[in-house]
Amino acid sequence: MPPVFPHLRSSFGRRILLLFALCIVVPGAIFGYLSFRQVEGKFQQETMRRMRLQSRGIGMSIHGGFSSIETEVEFLAGILGDGANPVFRRSSEWGWLFQDRPLLGATRLRHGSRAEALFGNPCPPPPQSDAARRHLASGQGLLYLQQNAGGSPRFFLAHAIRGKSPERELLVCEVNPDYLWGRVREAAPPVTEVAVLSPDGTSLFQTRSLPVAVLGRVEQERRKGSAAYFEWEQGSGTLLVDLATVFLKPVFLADDWIVVVSQPRSEAFAAVKRFTRALFLTIGLIVLTAGLFAHVQIRRSVVPLAVLKEGTRRISGGNFDSRVEIGSGDEFEDLARSFNAMADHLGREFRIQARLIEELAQNELGTLTALARAVDSNSPWTAGHSERVTDLAMELGRELGLPPDEIDQLHRGGLLHDIGKIGVPPTILDKPGKLTEEEFAVIRRHPSKGAEILEPIPNLRQVIPIVLQHHERFDGKGYPNGLKEESISLQARILALADVVDALISDRPYRPGWSREKVLVYTRENAGQQFDPEVVEAFFRIEARRSVDAPAETEFTGRSLESTIRA
Ligand SMILES: [Fe+2]
Repeated sequence: MPPVFPHLRSSFGRRILLLFALCIVVPGAIFGYLSFRQVEGKFQQETMRRMRLQSRGIGMSIHGGFSSIETEVEFLAGILGDGANPVFRRSSEWGWLFQDRPLLGATRLRHGSRAEALFGNPCPPPPQSDAARRHLASGQGLLYLQQNAGGSPRFFLAHAIRGKSPERELLVCEVNPDYLWGRVREAAPPVTEVAVLSPDGTSLFQTRSLPVAVLGRVEQERRKGSAAYFEWEQGSGTLLVDLATVFLKPVFLADDWIVVVSQPRSEAFAAVKRFTRALFLTIGLIVLTAGLFAHVQIRRSVVPLAVLKEGTRRISGGNFDSRVEIGSGDEFEDLARSFNAMADHLGREFRIQARLIEELAQNELGTLTALARAVDSNSPWTAGHSERVTDLAMELGRELGLPPDEIDQLHRGGLLHDIGKIGVPPTILDKPGKLTEEEFAVIRRHPSKGAEILEPIPNLRQVIPIVLQHHERFDGKGYPNGLKEESISLQARILALADVVDALISDRPYRPGWSREKVLVYTRENAGQQFDPEVVEAFFRIEARRSVDAPAETEFTGRSLESTIRA
């Protein structure tokens, strides 16, 4: 299965992608994070301000509710003080006036008389204190509450009857809580929970029960000041809480109430959540779009590079006919044209060089062949000897699996192996009879002489061991150095066999040429003595392929041929 982004295996592609990430993804992520933090901070401040306004607005609504009720109570007290008005003389009929109104009942309290319930349930008397008497005497309403056994408090508003002393006569009205809390509900926003607490922490009203721990924190905050804001961590999330004081003491001589508004953070910050989602969705889309664009651009750049890279690899492998095809319409296409022109030029140059090298090699071999013929022409009995030895040696080398460069060395070594005979007089070479020791010593010097002749030619240095060792024997009885077995180079061992075989089958002034069968017997009997057995085996394989059966055992004794084979 091919990789999804194969061009990202290219270091250039990865570099471009990194650049894209640095220029698009990283700034986008930083921008998104900073925007989110900015908006969240602003929204936090806005939420605090909004909740503060809400708590104060509800407090003002409560205060305004009591002020409105006091107006009605004051109006009623005025009527009671105006006894001349016949319309309101019968106070027992007033109830209908206040049905579904802020007041649940009204009671007239006279000093020394029984309380007179004008309508509704009887109301208890207000607290008896100097401050209360002074407050009522000043014409202001006095607010107080009574906690019922059932838990829900009753609120009362007392007012002095006009023209009467508060010690003598008072009007006390029971406030309708539904009217009061209805105003609170109207003032409260839809998703905000509201609680109204008395100074001792008693809940007077709440749209939803606040946790006890939150009420404790409210109590702590209230002691610090008249207003506060805090966040409360709870299991289901964070609760935002703001509290404000309803100042009732200056006007109604009642303890101040506390208004608590609360809202889950998740609801308050729902807009931030939506904004954040939209923000990161937008950033994600931008990054995705830019990523796709970068992907296309990387591909447009990397694919031509890969084509050029593959073309370069083929050229370096010697395939100068290789061409690259790029149709990108940009600099890569120009580069491909230049690349193809360069390949053309290199191909031409390479072919010229190869032809020159081939010609040089041919010339060199031609020169060496001419030299070999010059050496062989020293004697009429050795004409063509060096070339025939070379052919057989190369065939043996191939049979033994020698690499081409070593076959090439055999080629040169074979042609030059007897170059040392240049200094041997023909009278010795062609002497029909037995050689004297001195004459044979001259013959034995020709390998060393050949090596000396070739020594100044750097190109033939690897051939020198072949020339020097081609008369060494596998058993160490050869010359000039008496080397044996693997201390003799393999090419020299091969050449030794080829040299002797050609010498034996050729006529010499001192003996006629042997038959092929006789030569085969001789080589087989001298395997491991004069010749390398492996080379002999290779020779027999070659002969077998020529359909010449190698005879088994014959009566040929294989006597020493030192005097028979002079070269
Ligand atoms: Fe020789």
